[in-house]
Amino acid sequence: MPEFSVERMGRLEVWTIQGEARRNSIRRALVEELQSLLDRVSSDTSTGAVILTGAGDKAFCAGADLKERQGMSEDQVRALLVNLRDLLGSFERSDCTFIAAINGLALGGGAEIALCCDFRVAADSAEIGLTEVRLGIIPGGGGTQRLTRLVGPGRAKDLILTGRRANAQEALEIGLVHRVVPLTELRKSAVELAQSVLQNAPIAVAAAKHAIDQGIGLELIDALKLEHQQYERVLKSEDRLEGLRAFAAKRPPEFKGR
Ligand code: COA
Repeated sequence: MPEFSVERMGRLEVWTIQGEARRNSIRRALVEELQSLLDRVSSDTSTGAVILTGAGDKAFCAGADLKERQGMSEDQVRALLVNLRDLLGSFERSDCTFIAAINGLALGGGAEIALCCDFRVAADSAEIGLTEVRLGIIPGGGGTQRLTRLVGPGRAKDLILTGRRANAQEALEIGLVHRVVPLTELRKSAVELAQSVLQNAPIAVAAAKHAIDQGIGLELIDALKLEHQQYERVLKSEDRLEGLRAFAAKRPPEFKGR
């Protein structure tokens, strides 16, 4: 039984974690399957956006599979963390836009997966928590760093050192999620968001994503150089010329991703 169901809608894919009975928690097979899904969309420009969600209405993902973890040695946990770090970096390296549709609890590694996505849309019943310290560990998939970059060190400490869960409203207020909608409208809202990105020139969207993601850790002077490098990508593209032609002809552009 695969760990994910995959639906395709034009240039959009929806990946749903199929582990409702274990609250969509992350076992080793899931890490492997998600890595191959990410490798596929990252090497194939036919997919421009992916919505990632969990089966059922209880959890997006309840983090590491704690039952599997119980039987693992220290070295096995270490190896899993390395794989998880690579996996989560793949979201950021990819030209694709990723949207986490958070349909319930996003805890530990589940919250870390959501943090790697470009957008987070949450059901009003969702809760997000980096709860690891309650288990005697710390976030090991980049949570201490990505949450801090997103909401600042004060708010990150408030969530990570207490291990408490933020409800959807708080998550919205602190910028941890972009939108909050009723659960019944979650998919529609995520699809609308994806379409509003997909209507734009693919190379431009990817270049803007990388300029933002990679620039955040740099000094401004270096970040501006990075923006310039990314601009070179769009400058050479056919889609840039199509954008100008469409504007002059007062028609919508037909971007080709070239
Ligand atoms: N790993 C493995 N199994 C998990 C799990 C996890 N992270 N989270 C939930 N499950 C399993 C439960 O063990 C239970 O299995 P069972 O039916 O065989 O007993 C099933 O999912 C349902 O969980 P339950 O606790 O009964 O449901 P709930 O909706 O009341 O609560 C949670 C859900 C997620 C709040 C609760 O299960 C929980 O706290 N899980 C641990 C989450 C966590 O600490 N994650 C961070 C890991 S670093």
